[in-house]
Amino acid sequence: MQSAYRPIRIGLLGAGSVGSQVAKLLIENQSELAKRVGAELSLTGIAVRDLKSKRDAELPAELFTTDAESVILGSDIVIELIGGIEPAKTWVMQALNSGADVITANKALIAACGPELFALADQLGAQLYFEAAVAGAIPIIRPLRESLAGDRIDRVMGIVNGTTNFILDRMESTGADFDEALAEATALGYAEADPTADIEGFDAASKAAILASLAFHSEVPVEKVHREGITSVTAMQIETAKQAGYAVKLLAICERVESGGLVARVHPTLIPLEHPLAAVRGAYNAVFVEAQSAGRLMFYGAGAGGPETASAILGDLVSAAKRHLAGGPGLADSTHANLEALPVQFVNTRFQITLEVRDKAGVLAKIASVFAGHGVSVETVQQSVAPNNAALLTIMTHVASERDLEAVVAALEADDSVVLVASVIRVEGL
Ligand SMILES: NC(=O)c1ccc[n+]([C@@H]2O[C@H](COP(=O)([O-])OP(=O)(O)OC[C@H]3O[C@@H](n4cnc5c(N)ncnc54)[C@H](OP(=O)(O)O)[C@@H]3O)[C@@H](O)[C@H]2O)c1
Repeated sequence: MQSAYRPIRIGLLGAGSVGSQVAKLLIENQSELAKRVGAELSLTGIAVRDLKSKRDAELPAELFTTDAESVILGSDIVIELIGGIEPAKTWVMQALNSGADVITANKALIAACGPELFALADQLGAQLYFEAAVAGAIPIIRPLRESLAGDRIDRVMGIVNGTTNFILDRMESTGADFDEALAEATALGYAEADPTADIEGFDAASKAAILASLAFHSEVPVEKVHREGITSVTAMQIETAKQAGYAVKLLAICERVESGGLVARVHPTLIPLEHPLAAVRGAYNAVFVEAQSAGRLMFYGAGAGGPETASAILGDLVSAAKRHLAGGPGLADSTHANLEALPVQFVNTRFQITLEVRDKAGVLAKIASVFAGHGVSVETVQQSVAPNNAALLTIMTHVASERDLEAVVAALEADDSVVLVASVIRVEGL
């Protein structure tokens, strides 16, 4: 097909796990992509840190350079796949300033600097695409930005980090403790040499900030996302949860709260085994959306991986290239609702509390009175035997506020009939 348009020049920054697959697919599928877009997509340069680094795909050596600026300035569309804040931010701004549209998979950058970058793109009439920044191959950014743009979203709950889902899943299916499951995840390549960003919930918090800002049309700085990782999740907690009919998942939860603002939080959560998110095993991701008219929707698939993430990048590329030909303004990010991102204390939810208590008469009544004294209603109590003549109580509450629950935990810790508050975990999806 002879196109009426000159080729669209694509510059790639980074050729690691994702970048090398993007370059490979761009070259392999060149003629099909040209038909879909209506113009040829020409990969004109690939900027990397070290020309000698080993690549996951065989790519033409002449495309490679360490001069990122020359790639940026010679492109109509720049794809940023180096990760981190700097130099990614400087280069994205340089690309936008030069008149290029930008595609990125960089959740850390979008979560930390999104408002600044979107404002710049808006001012320049350029577009910043980031479908791959949340949940890899799963289309979730475009559904939130476009498909659900006419609805009111009340809540988004996601398993958005494959490493932590793999670890929790292995703990559940094999009985392994956290360290064993992390070692397995590292050996299989699911966890990086430094797993902090995943296991401490930083990666999921960046994604929660992005999801919340899109779902609620508001700016949500990543520092406002409540974050707890999975390092303190124990094999005992997972077993207790399983016996009670729950799975433990690291969820990113973004919701409107009664006071009128929003809360975004990331923490280990109990969800009933029959909830669709409980069926998300291994390193898979899923995002569960509750919207006023559409009801409940779930988006499921691979949250990472070179070719999988490259699929989302190429989807953005086709959109960007079509817009390049058709012209017109970009899809500006709407933050008009301006809901305040509130601390986790504004959330009302259920809790499961596991306590080691002294096994003597009257203790149960005393514990119950601590809950009642702070207005927290108890739904069920299960008692089992703990070591050292103690009893283990697993208490499920009705919906309670974080503030009241914090007061209950403080009172329990000060109570001489309580040996240990072994676990406090929020419960969602009931
Ligand atoms: N991997 C996934 O499954 C996945 C999924 C979703 C989103 N993402 C996001 O996609 C982005 C890329 O991830 P990745 O896994 O492909 O990363 P990666 O494998 O570490 O690759 C990074 C690439 O960037 C290049 N680079 C790094 N710093 C540079 C610098 N200062 N100047 C020039 N080039 C530089 C590296 O060059 P050398 O090769 O020469 O070192 C490498 O080619 C990240 O934002 C990540 O969060 C990744």
